[in-house]
Amino acid sequence: MGNKLFKGKTLAILTGGGDTPALNSSIESIRNRAALLGYKVYGIRMGWKGLLGEGDVVDLTNIPYDGWYGGTALLSSRTNPFASKKNPESRVPQVLKNLDRYGIDVLVSIGGDDTNGAAKRLFETEGIPVIGFPKTIDNDLRTRTWHHVEGKKIEAVLCPGFPSAAKAIAEMTANIKTTAESHQRIMVLEVMGRDAGWLTGTAIFGGATMALIPEVPMTQEKKELFFELVKENYLRHPKKALLIAVSEGVRWYDETKGKLDVVYASSEVDEFGHPRFGGISGVIASEISKRTGIEARAQITGYYPRSGMCRRYDKRLTQTLSDKIVELLLNKEYGKMPVMNKIVPFQELEEYNTSVIDMGDIGNQPLPLDYYNIDAFKFSSLYEDFLKNILSRVHYVDFDTDFPLVLP
Ligand code: F6P
Repeated sequence: MGNKLFKGKTLAILTGGGDTPALNSSIESIRNRAALLGYKVYGIRMGWKGLLGEGDVVDLTNIPYDGWYGGTALLSSRTNPFASKKNPESRVPQVLKNLDRYGIDVLVSIGGDDTNGAAKRLFETEGIPVIGFPKTIDNDLRTRTWHHVEGKKIEAVLCPGFPSAAKAIAEMTANIKTTAESHQRIMVLEVMGRDAGWLTGTAIFGGATMALIPEVPMTQEKKELFFELVKENYLRHPKKALLIAVSEGVRWYDETKGKLDVVYASSEVDEFGHPRFGGISGVIASEISKRTGIEARAQITGYYPRSGMCRRYDKRLTQTLSDKIVELLLNKEYGKMPVMNKIVPFQELEEYNTSVIDMGDIGNQPLPLDYYNIDAFKFSSLYEDFLKNILSRVHYVDFDTDFPLVLP
């Protein structure tokens, strides 16, 4: 115990942006490994906000921690320490002052593009020793994770938080199915994911057959084809029920405005300049009803996939990526982020399948169009293969309701 390598050094962890079910698991895994190396481990509360003003820092070194519990016990915020439209004055000097006051030697930033983007800038402009750690249910943070399928090599993404959220969306979709069947309705499920369709696609593992994603603008012509196919798929369905998953950020042609538009839940933007989407499913469901004559209803899946327990794929993923952090710490390699280098099933979530990327390469990664069939508004078999590694299909025993008809 006495001769631990980093005795006397302090590593601090923060979580920024939207929560995910895998954040506590990430914190726990990183804390455990850092503590084994001899670091004192601090938690910075409320993301970058916890390094402003007087700071808000807790000691995690020898505290019991529940990594299965969803969300983040360190709390989160969408604080941007750099100058932004909303906050024109840079608060980086406050961050630097607090890193010094609390004696923080290494900072691990768990976040998506925004949080890790700020970490990257602190590393590049101020030389702060940071290590990034991926996180987002949207799965849109570039991780350079290759998916080998049918002789192709697709640049995919795998971010902790996405696997748990994916399972939740698949389960919720499978549940909604009985309501759709009971009323012979079309259900339009709206799924978070901002400008990327990764999470929307996971509804196919719960029985959604059609989907709309932000990557494919729904122009006037596309809408015509879409309504036609919706009707066709509905009428072909033995129980006259159809589940359609739509991304919250779908760009949908608005006849009254004569242009493509998105639906916002609020016009307020956060410190990184993002507005909040919400409500497109209602618009689409009502237009489907009008154009096809079939009853359609909207269901916003909202925060459900972000909440609840960490699922087992995410648990092992966060542990595996944390193993790679040990290597970065030992080599004093900063400005990097551990990632999986290929899409693998649960059993192969091992350190030998990880690599590191430069935080300079961090950015947004939309859904590759290999994963989506634009003319059918369906996710492709390649995407099913991607998902198969991460979660299983939700299968409820089907109930055959084809009863013999009684004539008077
Ligand atoms: O980035 C994660 C995410 O859940 C997005 O899918 C969604 O658009 C956004 O966060 C919602 O943000 P908030 O938590 O601020 O409502």
